[in-house]
Amino acid sequence: MNWIRIRRARPEDVDDVTALERICFATPWARSDLEKDIGENILASYMIAESADRLIGYAGIWVVIDEGHITNVAVHPDWRGQGVATMLLSELLETARRKGAKNFTLEARASNATAIALYEKFGFRTVGYRRQYYADNGEDAAIMWLKENAEE
Ligand SMILES: CC(C)(COP(=O)(O)OP(=O)(O)OC[C@H]1O[C@@H](n2cnc3c(N)ncnc32)[C@H](O)[C@@H]1OP(=O)(O)O)[C@@H](O)C(=O)NCCC(=O)NCCS
Repeated sequence: MNWIRIRRARPEDVDDVTALERICFATPWARSDLEKDIGENILASYMIAESADRLIGYAGIWVVIDEGHITNVAVHPDWRGQGVATMLLSELLETARRKGAKNFTLEARASNATAIALYEKFGFRTVGYRRQYYADNGEDAAIMWLKENAEE
């Protein structure tokens, strides 16, 4: 297997991230939103996975005070099932912890068993659902939390 490198996303990665976003999601984020998040948003951290200098995955999080909200995790279909998302999420959570995050949340499509299994591996639990959250097919979102702050 080729080496996989995880690093922080840079503004020059936006085109590749946008292309991967379009491959991976039915309702992808717009390039302009990704550009703002990666290049300007001081609350956001994005990690990139690359192999042989090609982008194969990325993940993002917003940290507001002590709460981390995962925005997206995506891995190119050719690279799935090889631990790339696990590596990305490990680095992302560690980066967020260094910025003060103690608790983490995200939404995932209720039918996305792969993503839910990935997050559960990190200790996330489904605490409820946002009904008809996704505009394209009216699907519910599972709301997941990982609470590391024992006082919460
Ligand atoms: C979800 C996604 C990011 C996982 O990426 P990946 O690199 O294949 O994940 P990993 O190889 O690190 O696997 C992590 C865990 O996910 C789960 N998983 C991975 N592939 C799976 C599959 N085909 N079926 C069920 N669970 C699976 C397992 O729990 C796995 O842990 P394990 O290998 O210890 O059993 C990837 O499938 C993807 O990009 N999907 C499309 C975009 C998406 O849905 N993103 C999530 C938005 S909330």
